[in-house]
Amino acid sequence: MSQPNASAKPDYVLGTHDAEHARLGKQHSLWRELVHDGWKRAGIVAGSRVVDVGAGPGFATMDLAEIVGKNGRVVAVEISRKFVQEVNDQAKARGMVHVSGHVVDLMHEDIPTIDGLFDAAWCRWVCMFVPDVSVLVNRIHHSLRDGGVAVFHEYVQYETFGLQPPTEGILSFTHAAMKSFSDRGGETNIAGRVLRELRQHDFEILSIKPIVRSARPHEELWQWPASFIRIYVPRLVESSQESEAWGKKVLAELDFAEQDPQSIRLTPTVLEIIARNRRAC
Ligand SMILES: C[S@@+](CC[C@H](N)C(=O)[O-])C[C@H]1O[C@@H](n2cnc3c(N)ncnc32)[C@H](O)[C@@H]1O
Repeated sequence: MSQPNASAKPDYVLGTHDAEHARLGKQHSLWRELVHDGWKRAGIVAGSRVVDVGAGPGFATMDLAEIVGKNGRVVAVEISRKFVQEVNDQAKARGMVHVSGHVVDLMHEDIPTIDGLFDAAWCRWVCMFVPDVSVLVNRIHHSLRDGGVAVFHEYVQYETFGLQPPTEGILSFTHAAMKSFSDRGGETNIAGRVLRELRQHDFEILSIKPIVRSARPHEELWQWPASFIRIYVPRLVESSQESEAWGKKVLAELDFAEQDPQSIRLTPTVLEIIARNRRAC
């Protein structure tokens, strides 16, 4: 199901091309364990009704669908028509009649509650891309039942992204990526503002957990930030935000670091937030 005017909606800053699709898939598998742990602590179980907010092509949606089972419901909302189509194709291929994807621009449209309010909302790496996080939190608030929970994974300190000790090129990439998100109306280190908006929307904060991880070149986790750099450097150069020489320097630094098995990199720091909704009766 999708909105009639959906084709007019813009795609998001990182694009919806195959490389970004593959990156989101890899990203989800590398974070799966931590994500499932958060869902469990938030009380998402068989029979739960969950909305995946800004679901991308639906990697988390499908995991949620397995957890809640056919007595539950998973609704994926997403601005990209292409991603929503992928969610619905996947759901069909897997016989998941309790899953549906919907084209929704969360800045301008409500979350469709289909046949009732949700028990839980999952929202990862979406608040950082929207121009007004207050609007997004408000829509989540109105989509949840009283006592329903919202689980967020958003960045609280993106600057930890990079090698240790830091190197000039990769450090400048981190700042260039953050600048490009803010130039497009987003804000990378958005988790603190999410907390403030949750309080203002009558949520009770149940749990806060900062997550930063380290990786060496032979570890699978290394590839997550590495593939982001390889995909995003050309975009920053093509959009003229950065020069070709800069791009070459960053990629050469990454290649060089990868050849040394002792290299260490940290991930940007995510804040997991679990909050309970309180609705005025
Ligand atoms: C980094 S991706 C994360 C996707 C997914 N949550 C995940 O963790 O794999 C950000 C997603 O937010 C979506 N998005 C950005 N702005 C949106 C908006 N205004 N309404 C709905 N979705 C939006 C993008 O299209 C993209 O799929």
